[in-house]
Amino acid sequence: MRIRVWHILMAAVVLLGIGVFTAYRQLSQPLPESAVPAGYAPDPQNGRNMYFAGGCISCHRGVGPHVELPAGGRKLKIPGGEILVPNITPDEETGIGRWRPIDFVNAMRRGLAPDGTHLIPAFPYTSYAWMKTGDILDLFAYLKTLKPVRNETPLDSHRLDRFALAFWKWLALPHRPFRPVPGKSEAWNRGAYLVVGPGHCGECHTPRNAIFLPDRRRWLAGAPHLSEKGSVPSLRGLKKRGRYKDVNDLFSALKHGEALGYEDISSGGMGEVQSNISKLPDADIRAIATYLMSLE
Ligand code: HEC
Ligand code: HEC
Repeated sequence: MRIRVWHILMAAVVLLGIGVFTAYRQLSQPLPESAVPAGYAPDPQNGRNMYFAGGCISCHRGVGPHVELPAGGRKLKIPGGEILVPNITPDEETGIGRWRPIDFVNAMRRGLAPDGTHLIPAFPYTSYAWMKTGDILDLFAYLKTLKPVRNETPLDSHRLDRFALAFWKWLALPHRPFRPVPGKSEAWNRGAYLVVGPGHCGECHTPRNAIFLPDRRRWLAGAPHLSEKGSVPSLRGLKKRGRYKDVNDLFSALKHGEALGYEDISSGGMGEVQSNISKLPDADIRAIATYLMSLE
């Protein structure tokens, strides 16, 4: 009798092990080459807009003479430690110079490095994953136009954390691309896309639950700041609370920041975001304002 119980237990443990391993393998699968549309001619100018909408430079900014380039090398504070931000200039040895377009799509949409490493979501791919493939490829083409900088920034090797990450990502990553909401204006949908996807505004402005998943019921409702002290304000009811008069007012705040006397938009954690957004075409900034002002 005892032996049989042991056998059953052992079999259960082995099966569980195989199950976890298979699930892990499944979740670590990169997208196939066919995820890149054949013959796609990327538009680096649109890629530049995505670069600023996505605020890549805020984190990937180089040090010393390379501050204007995403040469990496800075440490970013994350809950429970620090993380080295990698070099994403097109340097062949130390940057993304040898990456294929599909490698970049996998990083942005799956949080996977070319060698299969699960990337830590301090890199906000859980938002970038909503981006259109075309926008991601345009962004890659833009990065390729930048000056390559040689700067070694190896991913650190907390393999165990990264194993658990595979399962977390399954919960956190969107399972379908962004879809425009029917019945809403083109500007509203453009703004929603920029806020949800490239802009990754929810990464700071939406509170998270106990396992760090964004609480979608409280989308953009304000949250504690993850990397700095203090809190990130709500972006809901901006009009009702008298923060901004109308879309034009918020547009102007996003474009010019505190230089025009607006408060709380460009001096704290939002500072870099505002300066990046200000580089977008006016129509995109206005679209963001249109979407935000509609949130009750
Ligand atoms: C909030 C900070 C932050 C922002 C914003 C950010 N990144 Fe990152 N990125 C990181 C960190 C940190 C890592 C390293 C993750 C790791 O070690 O697992 C990373 C990793 C990457 C990688 C993988 C590099 C490699 O060597 O495997 C790519 C590619 C990348 N980011 C591209 C971008 C692009 C493009 C943007 C803008 C659209 C962007 N990142 C915006 C912080 C950021
Ligand atoms: C890195 C975290 C972070 C990200 C990402 C971020 N914000 Fe913010 N945001 C803040 C913080 C912090 C503040 C409060 C002001 C400050 O400290 O700069 C703020 C303030 C604001 C305000 C002013 C709110 C008010 O009450 O007047 C607006 C509007 C805003 N953010 C819009 C956005 C939009 C749009 C995006 C995405 C494109 C975004 N934020 C992304 C951190 C962030």
